[in-house]
Amino acid sequence: MQDLHFKRHRRLRRTESMRALVRETHLRTEDLIYPIFVVEGEGIRKEVPSMPGVHHVSLDHLTEEMNELVRLNIRSVIVFGVPGEKDEVGSQAYHEEGIVQRAIRQIKEETPSLTVVADTCLCQYTDHGHCGIVRDGDIANDESLEYLTRTAVSQAQAGADIIAPSNMMDGFVAAIRQGLDEAGFSHIPVMSYAVKYASSFYGPFRDAAHSSPQFGDRRAYQMDPSNRLEAIREAESDVEEGADFLIVKPALAYLDIMREVKDRFNLPLVAYNVSGEYSMIKAAAQNGWVNEQEIVLEKLTSMKRAGADLIITYFAKDAAKWLNQ
Ligand code: PBG
Repeated sequence: MQDLHFKRHRRLRRTESMRALVRETHLRTEDLIYPIFVVEGEGIRKEVPSMPGVHHVSLDHLTEEMNELVRLNIRSVIVFGVPGEKDEVGSQAYHEEGIVQRAIRQIKEETPSLTVVADTCLCQYTDHGHCGIVRDGDIANDESLEYLTRTAVSQAQAGADIIAPSNMMDGFVAAIRQGLDEAGFSHIPVMSYAVKYASSFYGPFRDAAHSSPQFGDRRAYQMDPSNRLEAIREAESDVEEGADFLIVKPALAYLDIMREVKDRFNLPLVAYNVSGEYSMIKAAAQNGWVNEQEIVLEKLTSMKRAGADLIITYFAKDAAKWLNQ
């Protein structure tokens, strides 16, 4: 044993207070953005079957939900609308009295301390379920930009603090930035879904938002999960076009991409911990196969370690309860 030389890493792991002293990554309730699904109607607080613990809420239940976030010290929400009517161009997405516009106004009025992020897309609002305008069976990029810009401006008019376009059309950041500026919203940041993969992890969300495409799939606009360099090109163009935040989505199977985007671009990075990632853990926890609290906190911490500054997650309320303990 005399000449044995090695490092003693375990010195720094000896006690809990020692471990706390050298801990590199911290998860805070302020890092979490809670997604909510608002629906038309009254008296609705209905659990989404494929997402235990996530509800559709009508506006009369929205404020109680928002008050709970405030109590838990969650500072931000991202709003998804489930409209009563859909049509070819998704006109409820940009209607002044659309479900999202009304929800945003209500949140800003009743719980003004919350930062409201508006998801800007057409897929919940179009009868074909695609994220843009369909022409001859194809998604017409440039025509879609006009409708998306109109949607973003209407959300800003309703009081949204941040616009988060998730549609993956080319030029959406440039178009929306220009539209916001021209409408007097140069102070409203764009949180771009810069890197969004065509992922099977969105399955439960499409149940929740009734937004499955009625023909084909989204692979002609969302990214191929095999690609890494393409993610850098996507992020690069959004930075050039004026994005203020970059989102990588999904999170768990794409931590490598997150790290790479974080290292290359100097903007706040957001991880979208998507519906399928949520439901898998919920299912396993309900079966008693995993310890939900430990596994959720480990998973959210891993996203921060990979470079995320913020996390959009359906676990926000659960995580906040555990973090506040
Ligand atoms: C809309 C949108 C989707 C998600 C967020 N915004 C679904 C999709 O592209 O099909 C997915 C969110 C989740 O799975 O939690 N374009």
